[in-house]
Amino acid sequence: MSRLSVLAYIFGAVFFLVSCSFAVFYGYKVLTHDLPVEKKPVEKYDYHFVLVTEELDNEYWRLVEQGAKAAAKDYGVMLEYAGPKQANIDDHLKTIEMSAASKVDGILTQGLSDEQFTPLIDRVVASGIPVITVDTDAANSKRMAYIGTDNYYSGFLAGKALIQDTKGQANVAIITGSFYANHQQQRVKGFQDAVKGEKGIHIIDIVESEISRVRAAEKAYQIIKDHPEVNAFYGTSALDGIGIAQVVDRFVKPGKIYIVGFDTLPESLEYIRKGTIQATVVQEPYEMGYRAVKMMINLIQGKPVEPIVHTNTRIMRIGDLPVSHLYRMEESN
Ligand code: BGC
Repeated sequence: MSRLSVLAYIFGAVFFLVSCSFAVFYGYKVLTHDLPVEKKPVEKYDYHFVLVTEELDNEYWRLVEQGAKAAAKDYGVMLEYAGPKQANIDDHLKTIEMSAASKVDGILTQGLSDEQFTPLIDRVVASGIPVITVDTDAANSKRMAYIGTDNYYSGFLAGKALIQDTKGQANVAIITGSFYANHQQQRVKGFQDAVKGEKGIHIIDIVESEISRVRAAEKAYQIIKDHPEVNAFYGTSALDGIGIAQVVDRFVKPGKIYIVGFDTLPESLEYIRKGTIQATVVQEPYEMGYRAVKMMINLIQGKPVEPIVHTNTRIMRIGDLPVSHLYRMEESN
């Protein structure tokens, strides 16, 4: 073999080896490049709870969720937030059933109506899953505890605020979230009892908004058309006062019709600042969520738990607005 052929062989062999190494190197890179790299530490939870709410994207319920998630983080709980996209009793009940079927350690939910919620809650509890009612109690069920507003008292407060602010002279229309929900019924009853001794206060109409701001606005508009004597409104759930205020703001005049509503969502505060809503009943949704999770843990661990925990309720008017709102008021004047 000539020297030239030996050199050619050696060159060929080296070239072959180099190509093989490239092929192996890049082949490996291609095969592994899309594989996910597990960097997240596996989180460990002691319990798995579900918070089932009336309406997922309702700002009020998002506050309950925030409180519950904060407690879940503090106490090592995996918390799921579930419920209908828009208030719907059947979907609400189904979500509770599904949570129970997936064998969670505890369910936090409203006890909206006795007829539908009580038998379901009782079945879930009998299957060994503890239930705590939040915001709305199903007092006749076997739920372990309730945390939330004293709904009768909150309605009573709204009635007293209306008497005070209208000097006992008003033709009132009530817009309530639902005729069938326990808390809405109690808020109406508390209000009626507060005003019943007042000769100058007349309840002209009571209608339902189905927990919808648009429907509350439609109903308010209709009432103003049908009953020109109405000069006050009482809205019994977070979106009712806002819906009524939208109509008064647009078609009447802020302040011309008295409004007492519920809750302190950003829009409600804005309408109080503008003088469209005169008073609102303050609830503590964040605290409800936080304490409900803590109560559930205590229950599971066999620690004592109060069966009924009422969170704070009070009336807020323009003078009680957070300072940041009042500054904005001066700017816009
Ligand atoms: C009630 C909630 C309700 C919400 C509706 C609140 O005042 O406490 O139960 O889901 O209003 O927007």
